[in-house]
Amino acid sequence: MKLHTVAELLSSDITLQDIEIKGWVRTFRANRFIALNDGSTINNIQCVVDFENTDEVTLKRITTGAAIHIKGELVESQGKGQSVEIQVKTIDILGDSHPDEYPIQPKKHSFEFLRENAHLRTRTSTFSAVMRLRSSLSFAIHKYFNENGFYYMHTPIITGSDAEGAGEMFRVSALDAKNPPLTEDGKVNYKEDFFGKETNLTVSGQLEAETYAMSLGKVYTFGPTFRAENSNTSRHLAEFWMIEPEVAFMDLAGNMDLAEDFMKSVLSYVLEHNMDDLKFLENRLLDEEKTKPQAERSEMSLIEKLKFVVDNNFKRVSYTEAIDILRNSKPNKKKKFNYIIEEWGADLQSEHERYLVEKHFKCPVILFDYPANIKAFYMRLNEDGKTVRAMDILFPGIGEIVGGSQREERLDVLKEKMKALDIEEEELWWYLDLRKYGTAVHSGFGLGFERLVMFATGMGNIRDVIPYPRTPQNAEF
Ligand code: 4AD
Ligand code: MG
Repeated sequence: MKLHTVAELLSSDITLQDIEIKGWVRTFRANRFIALNDGSTINNIQCVVDFENTDEVTLKRITTGAAIHIKGELVESQGKGQSVEIQVKTIDILGDSHPDEYPIQPKKHSFEFLRENAHLRTRTSTFSAVMRLRSSLSFAIHKYFNENGFYYMHTPIITGSDAEGAGEMFRVSALDAKNPPLTEDGKVNYKEDFFGKETNLTVSGQLEAETYAMSLGKVYTFGPTFRAENSNTSRHLAEFWMIEPEVAFMDLAGNMDLAEDFMKSVLSYVLEHNMDDLKFLENRLLDEEKTKPQAERSEMSLIEKLKFVVDNNFKRVSYTEAIDILRNSKPNKKKKFNYIIEEWGADLQSEHERYLVEKHFKCPVILFDYPANIKAFYMRLNEDGKTVRAMDILFPGIGEIVGGSQREERLDVLKEKMKALDIEEEELWWYLDLRKYGTAVHSGFGLGFERLVMFATGMGNIRDVIPYPRTPQNAEF
């Protein structure tokens, strides 16, 4: 006998004589009906126990959370709510689950409680759906790049340069923290450390990805990145996964086209392959919304939102236009924003980004051509001398989901910029080499993977879309 999955059996339209299945009990009702789940689908299969011919002790051990092995027959269901069910012939308890101690009882649990039990939370429908979608999105991302001629590149996790300036870094050191070797002037002597220099966890693989784009043409990274900022928000993690494509001979317009096509492609993949999970999450959101005042409820359901993004063009707006819109907006005039936009050059806060996407344009927005001094050193300076070829993609409910740019390919301009920002040339000699030997226009962007998973699942807190979130004061599991 072959071991079946719940997904296989639920999609079977014929009765099957001898089937065998293993999974975990979600509920056991009337000493008769087991709802069994094995992770293969959001749906449970109903297993009907012949309780008159099953011993008392076994029946008592069929509790929520227990692992069981069932042999039986797949038949058309007698009851409502499912088309097929299993008539149980034999049942083995593989692993008991103490009914009074098991934390994941069949009732509504708060997300806070489930975060404290993150090792068990994928035993709920919500978290199993989220994590199946996370897996599916990862696959769709690799599929997209593979089908479009990109090479997957692994950039280092430990980095010897801290020049990117994308955020505070976590130090990597093998020195004795209590008693480190010191230099003559009393500072920690990193020359004696493992790598002979100061090293950190990477904040981005971009600079290394650029080196490969300038020989392999089209590359991407998809790996963990780390930022030690103390941002305790629902959209920041200290450890998150980032997708960073980098393409030679591509300018900013091409970069926007790529990002838009890519986002649409991965979202349509899950619309095609994960409908059961999406429908479940959509209903969960509808229930949650019922508790909110009418004005705060969203106009579109989850699936409608995903389809909207797939079917409509992203709105492309320059930073300068955006500032005009914001300056003239109601919340700015009525001083409702925490940061009032007064003049050109102001950095945009997430409240401004969300106003633009959610209230003004009501669709995904690509903002481009930002002021040079609020963006990173490597971005291509425009002819106006004050803006750079940067682009951020803003999504409803999320804010910034992608950040990218055309890169500065001119050696002299890049060197000047680094000098102005006190970035040592010695530290980035290899990065400058790209501009010395066969330099060319090139561009790329970074997509925060968890923000994409938030959007695709409708989850409101980034801690609930990664298995074990790392945030300030929290590294459990
Ligand atoms: O805008 P960022 O900082 O851009 C870069 O790191 C560039 N090197 C990317 C590139 O051009 N190759 O980060 C890119 C994206 C953001 O738009 C956001 O979605 C996500 O990464 N992100 C975070 N996600 C979760 N937690 C954090 N602390 C994040 N910081 C950035
Ligand atoms: Mg950014």
